[in-house]
Amino acid sequence: MDIFRIEGPVRLSGSVRVNSSKNASLPIMAAALLGPGKSVLQGVPHLSDISVCEQLLGQLGCKISREADDELCIDSTVVDHPVGEYDIVRKMRASICILGPLLARCGRVEVSMPGGCAIGDRPVDLHIKGLKALGARVHLKNGYIIAEAPNGLQGSDIFMGGPFGSTVLGTANVLMAATLAKGKTTIESAACEPEIADLANCLNRMGAKITGVGSPRLIIEGVKQLSPVRYRVVPDRIEAGTFMVAAAITESELRLEHCRLNDMMAVVDRLRNIGVTVDAAEDGCVVSRQGPIKPADITTQPYPGFPTDLQAQFMALLALAEGNSVVIEKIFPDRFMHVAELNRMAANLRKEGPAVIVAGVKQLIAAPVMASDLRASAALVLAGLAAEGMTTINRVYHIDRGYERIEERLNPLGAKIKREDV
Ligand code: EPU
Repeated sequence: MDIFRIEGPVRLSGSVRVNSSKNASLPIMAAALLGPGKSVLQGVPHLSDISVCEQLLGQLGCKISREADDELCIDSTVVDHPVGEYDIVRKMRASICILGPLLARCGRVEVSMPGGCAIGDRPVDLHIKGLKALGARVHLKNGYIIAEAPNGLQGSDIFMGGPFGSTVLGTANVLMAATLAKGKTTIESAACEPEIADLANCLNRMGAKITGVGSPRLIIEGVKQLSPVRYRVVPDRIEAGTFMVAAAITESELRLEHCRLNDMMAVVDRLRNIGVTVDAAEDGCVVSRQGPIKPADITTQPYPGFPTDLQAQFMALLALAEGNSVVIEKIFPDRFMHVAELNRMAANLRKEGPAVIVAGVKQLIAAPVMASDLRASAALVLAGLAAEGMTTINRVYHIDRGYERIEERLNPLGAKIKREDV
């Protein structure tokens, strides 16, 4: 099992290219099921979550290949086993996003019910509610969700909001299913995340008729069929935000290429408020910090609010602020596994329900720590760059799920990260 040894503190400099988005790639890969034939998705990153999704599509009957490094080909001519098996779904919850497209294409689908994970319970009731509204019959059997619509789906008006706001993959599922439903569907309180807008743009390129893209009201006129597509996935705003924090936490200057600041207004706003400079540049931005970090209050919210997927990384940064910050998690109230680990590195964090009070310290100190989920591990890498001494991070496979060889991207900038197989 791989570990990271990170020597700090370091200063970083230079330029890094942000990959295309994992969380846009996954539902777009599922969307390829809707257009029988060979789709080519460009920019899909080399990540373990993407490999799991490739395996999943392979089990359904698709043929997957990488013809060029940058191009993932999904041949969905044959889809003869519309079942998302437990063995795959337990590795990656996002497997749930085959539910909508398979139901629309095959009239029947079985997907293992995803369990909870390190960031919380993560129910799928809204996905099911949305598909039922389109006329599907849905029941649970032996841990599997079984959805059927033998005579096709019927367009409908659906409210998709839940106790924590909109749902990203729930919106993806219902949106994909509705593209082939008879008549018009309106999804109200749809997720507005750029990854959902990217999915809708891709579906429109496949022949779908979706309007309101990027807004909380998506209107879908059902069509009879979709075609395969050639499509480039948007830059990963969460990876970009992680590199921005890397510049800030090491008091450095970094140039980010392939980054859309317009998708990151809440993040850029927080950074500027705490004393980090973010300047737009061609196809990206330059991020730099000279002075001390000021404290801040951060509340995670659905887009365009501050993303939960950057909460842990910002907590590592605020741990070094001059004063007290409050971080409130409104999407996944239990997503705080990194708190105890950062405290092992001499941070001063106190959890109070769905909030953490961050009392800034002058210096983080290296320690052996444990990665618990993807974004928590990213926070530990960032803390390791700034901490005095050698930080060891166990269970690095969590970070490989969402960041492509992060050490090979950060080391040329001045980081000292070694991957070891122990
Ligand atoms: N929720 C429900 N019922 C549902 C679905 C969701 O109550 O049927 C609740 C969730 O429990 C949560 C909130 O709604 O409180 C939002 O969850 P959402 O459904 O939006 O999350 P998701 O679609 O399962 C995606 C990302 C996550 C990201 C969240 C929130 C992918 C593959 N995953 O998950 O990304 O944190 O949206 O933005 O797109 C990550 O990349 O590290 C990651 C966890």
